[in-house]
Amino acid sequence: MPEFEVLIGRDRIHRRIAELAAAILARHADPRRLCVVAVMDGARVFCDHLVPQLGPRIEVRAIRAKSYVGTNSCGTVALSSADAHQGNETLRVTGRDVLVVEDIVDTGRTVARLREHFLGEGARSVEVVTLLSKPSRREVDVPLDFVGFEIEDRFVIGFGMDFDGRYLELAEIVVYDAARVTQRP
Ligand code: IMP
Repeated sequence: MPEFEVLIGRDRIHRRIAELAAAILARHADPRRLCVVAVMDGARVFCDHLVPQLGPRIEVRAIRAKSYVGTNSCGTVALSSADAHQGNETLRVTGRDVLVVEDIVDTGRTVARLREHFLGEGARSVEVVTLLSKPSRREVDVPLDFVGFEIEDRFVIGFGMDFDGRYLELAEIVVYDAARVTQRP
């Protein structure tokens, strides 16, 4: 038995990322004006595939947003820098058009917190591109500008989305099934 059920295969993921890049370029004639902010660690792989398709010399920053323990979201979202070049400095976004790159929008709290944070820091605009969205889980109504796939309420891993630091090698998006994991010899 395969270890996990594949929800979205790698070809579909790559095709969709190309479409997302095209949609971003259709809206932003000069994407170098964007300040792309990847939400670590889950969006790292998505961002690494997306950003080269937006053209050369795009500025990419990293931020860490912590709201999840295991498969349960807890109410608050703490932000911290995840950028080696940035040290402890806050990301400077004053007057910038920010593009947040997320792996999954679930309750919407993380994206809402990031929007509030960047607008509070003086960003001119905040847009969001997410590889996955679980609309049925939404608790906070957040505008999403570019969505890769809408999925049902299932806990997924793969393509950079880990489970407490494991399964980073999966190239497709799969449904995490704890029963299958515990059945393994
Ligand atoms: P939100 O704040 O509830 O929207 O949660 C967003 C974050 O929760 C995402 O960036 C993920 O890190 C994490 N998350 C939500 N659902 C999943 C999932 O199915 N698999 C892995 N991480 C998830």
